[in-house]
Amino acid sequence: MVTTMAMKVSLEGKIVVLVPYMAAHVPKYHRWMQDSALLQATGSEPLSLEQEYEMQISWTQDPNKRTFIVLDKDLINGELAYGEPHVEAMAGDVNIYMNDVDDPKVAEVEIMIAESKSRGKGIGKESVLMMMAYAIKNLEIHKFTAKIGDSNTASLSLFRKLGFEDSSYSGIFKEVTLEYMVTNLRRAELLKLLEDVITHTYSSDNPSDSLLTGETCIA
Ligand SMILES: CC(C)(COP(=O)(O)OP(=O)(O)OC[C@H]1O[C@@H](n2cnc3c(N)ncnc32)[C@H](O)[C@@H]1OP(=O)(O)O)[C@@H](O)C(=O)NCCC(=O)NCCS
Repeated sequence: MVTTMAMKVSLEGKIVVLVPYMAAHVPKYHRWMQDSALLQATGSEPLSLEQEYEMQISWTQDPNKRTFIVLDKDLINGELAYGEPHVEAMAGDVNIYMNDVDDPKVAEVEIMIAESKSRGKGIGKESVLMMMAYAIKNLEIHKFTAKIGDSNTASLSLFRKLGFEDSSYSGIFKEVTLEYMVTNLRRAELLKLLEDVITHTYSSDNPSDSLLTGETCIA
C-alpha cells in the first residue's frame, strides 16, 4: 500500500535505534560539539546553544536533509518508548544531504558516534546501513557519497568496508570523496536489511521535533 502522510519515524535495529533529532537532544549534542577533535573530524564549527537549537529546527525542516539521533540500545534506561528522546542513550547522529545540484537522488552521508563508550561495537556501521536502506526505500537514492578527512582512518575504514570507493581527493581540504553506487544487488541487500528493522511512526505536539515528513511511505 502506498500512502503519503505526515509522520515522524524511528527505526529500531539490532544495536541502535535511530530517532528524530528532538529539542530535548540539543543540550547533550551541544556539549559533544565543544570537543575540538569531534569538530575537526566532522568539519564543523562550534555553535552557541541558541544556534544549536536553530540548527535542530533547520535540520528537521530542510527538505534536502534527513537526520537521526543514534541511540545505543545498551544505554536505554528501562523499556524503549517511542516518541521519547532517551537522552541517556544518545551516542551520535547520522545524516544525509541531497546536495548534488545535478542529481537530487544523490545523498552525502555523515556519521558521528560521539560517545566514546559507544564506539567500536558496530554502532556506526549499523547506523549508516540503516540510513542508506531508509534513503533507498523512501527517497529513491541511487548514489551515496562521503567526504572524509585523509587522516580520519576510523571513518575511512568504516566507509570502505561498507563498499564505498575512493573517487577523488582534495589537496586543499585534505579530504577524500568516496562513492557508493546503488546497484540492483546492493539495493536488494539493503532493503533486505530493513526486514529486521522495526519502523515506528508517530506524531509529536512539538513541531520542531519532527523528522521531515510528507514522504511517500511504502508499508
Ligand atoms: C568513525 C566512527 C563513526 C566509527 O564509529 P564506530 O561505531 O566506533 O564504528 P564501528 O564499531 O561501527 O566500526 C565499523 C568499522 O569502522 C572502522 N573503525 C571503527 N573504529 C576504528 C578505529 N578506531 N580505527 C580503525 N578503524 C575503525 C573499522 O573498519 C570497523 O570495522 P571492524 O569493526 O570490522 O574492524 C566514530 O569513530 C566517529 O564518530 N568518529 C568521529 C566523527 C567522524 O569522524 N565522523 C566521520 C565524518 S562523516
